[in-house]
Amino acid sequence: MDPSDAAIAELVLRAQTVRRRAYAPYSNYPVGAALLARSGQIYEGANVENAAYPTAMCAERNAIFRAVSDGERAFEALAVVTENGGTPCGACRQVLSEFGSELLVIIADASGKIHRKIRLAELIPHAFGPQDLVLS
Ligand code: THU
Repeated sequence: MDPSDAAIAELVLRAQTVRRRAYAPYSNYPVGAALLARSGQIYEGANVENAAYPTAMCAERNAIFRAVSDGERAFEALAVVTENGGTPCGACRQVLSEFGSELLVIIADASGKIHRKIRLAELIPHAFGPQDLVLS
């Protein structure tokens, strides 16, 4: 079941808050993500950049890696907050899709305004997944 409007508002707030802790001195594009697990727990992530540019990690993947490391495997919704309401990158879409494409993705800007609510399946149709690894 989709989260209530109040739960979505809380998720956006959490993503706004963690975005303030992003480490993005190179791009100057801080991102915050808040992932609601089926357990009810919310996992936050911010992007963390590095002087060796390609080793940076996105906010969404930091959030889901934290959640999975905590034993979570089922997720209901993800809020992503950027300056302008940018959408998750391709790599994050792929990683998120491993755990289900029904995830509701809420895209918001720094002010908290929601730009769109969209299913992960729409963001990454025909994703490569575990089913593709059945070789025989
Ligand atoms: N970034 C994210 O954290 N999530 C995305 O989905 C898009 C890009 C970060 C990576 C980098 O630190 C900065 O935003 C600019 O690309």
